[in-house]
Amino acid sequence: MKYFLDSAKIDEIDYAYKNYGIDGVTTNPKHVMLSGKPLSYFINHIIEWVKENNIEGYETFPISVEIDPFLDKADDMYEAAKVISARCSNFVIKIPCTEQGIIAARRLELEGIRTNMTLVFSPSQAIMPAKIGCKFVSPFIGWKENSGEDTIEYLEKIKVIYDNYDYKTEIIVAALRNGKQIADAAALGCDIVTCGLAVYKASFEHPFTTYGAGIFQDAWKNTKKD
Ligand code: E4P
Repeated sequence: MKYFLDSAKIDEIDYAYKNYGIDGVTTNPKHVMLSGKPLSYFINHIIEWVKENNIEGYETFPISVEIDPFLDKADDMYEAAKVISARCSNFVIKIPCTEQGIIAARRLELEGIRTNMTLVFSPSQAIMPAKIGCKFVSPFIGWKENSGEDTIEYLEKIKVIYDNYDYKTEIIVAALRNGKQIADAAALGCDIVTCGLAVYKASFEHPFTTYGAGIFQDAWKNTKKD
């Protein structure tokens, strides 16, 4: 399973790429806001970063960039996507899963501009993005769990549908909040997870690992030396 970093902070992306070998990046308007910089800053700097690391092209290292969320007409979404996509061969354009978003994404995919259909909250929403050949689909998990919904059955159904019809669209399990959700996505055979840096860091550790390391330190100290 691939690990993407969900962030618009260049330093975090650099850290996760150099230390964990992350496979791609997803951003959204909220992450851009949290970076404290405008979208243009992110775009200009990530283009430089991609060149410095010699990882050009979405096949090598996909970076999802979302269109203006106020756009709600397919023609406008399509035009905005084309402008962003022209900036960098790593960019995959994130478009919300609405009827207008699907119309725009279909046109873009027919022209070879790769898309990531985002804000997906039901298995039925996930079918059309696959039929029209979106590169990625992003079912959100954390938001649903926060509202008390089960997400395993939801993800499992999407995975079964995609396997039934051999759809090529890759499933990015998004908005993850903890390691259990990462493991659930992997157990279901989903292609990718996207998480913030803090979620990855927490998922690598366990209190018993720290506890066990303490026991072994004591043992090491108390063992007779040659
Ligand atoms: C996914 O691609 C989204 O960027 C992301 O996971 C959104 O959710 P969050 O910001 O609430 O985690």
